Amino acid sequence: MSRPVLLTERVRLEPLTAAHTELLVELDSDPEVLRLIHGRALSRDEVVGTYMPRRTAPQADARGLGFWIGWDRHDPERWFGWWCLIPDADRRGSAELGYRLRRTAWGRDLATEGGRVLVDHAFGTVGLQRVWAETMAVNTASRAVLRKLGLNERAIRVDDEKQAIPGWEHGVVSLDLDRSAAGPSRVPDDAQ
Ligand SMILES: CC(C)(COP(=O)(O)OP(=O)(O)OC[C@H]1O[C@@H](n2cnc3c(N)ncnc32)[C@H](O)[C@@H]1OP(=O)(O)O)[C@@H](O)C(=O)NCCC(=O)NCCS
Repeated sequence: MSRPVLLTERVRLEPLTAAHTELLVELDSDPEVLRLIHGRALSRDEVVGTYMPRRTAPQADARGLGFWIGWDRHDPERWFGWWCLIPDADRRGSAELGYRLRRTAWGRDLATEGGRVLVDHAFGTVGLQRVWAETMAVNTASRAVLRKLGLNERAIRVDDEKQAIPGWEHGVVSLDLDRSAAGPSRVPDDAQ
């Protein structure tokens, strides 16, 4: 199975490929977008050389997982950002949920809307057992998004390697959601 196109009311999630590199260079050049992730903007070389290969990993795609770019369903010229489900290397059946939106797309509940269809895809189509996420404790918007998606906060740890991020001393929050707690619409028919 490769990543399908996923639709919500306002977003068209399309598999992210190397063809989207320039969009992601632009997104990662905004220090405000990366303030609570890297504490700074990324250079073009970092995006192209380090991050794009991870975002287009063929092993993830082969399992229907990986990154999606989110377009405005009602304006095909406009894009909102990306969403992802990154499979765990050491735990089959588990993947990390993430998202990164352009500033112009903030404040419209779009991260939750795209995240919901990804969680449904993870449990209902791919058949994962667990979806997890991490966010800085001070990233109030992201914590709200993850809570709305049904993920539960499990732990907070202070990570010295995050010292470049404002508010790092408040820690990193780990959250997860088990398929058994995700609701009947997320269980595939053949498992019911
Ligand atoms: C974090 C991010 C994904 C949020 O997505 P979004 O769709 O813009 O989310 P919204 O602004 O609609 O906010 C979601 C919720 O958080 C709340 N919220 C947003 N900013 C807040 C703040 N500063 N304080 C308190 N609550 C806040 C909103 O009120 C909303 O809650 P509600 O649904 O109960 O009304 C987006 O801002 C983003 O891409 N930021 C940069 C990258 C990033 O931080 N990614 C996540 C890394 S873990």
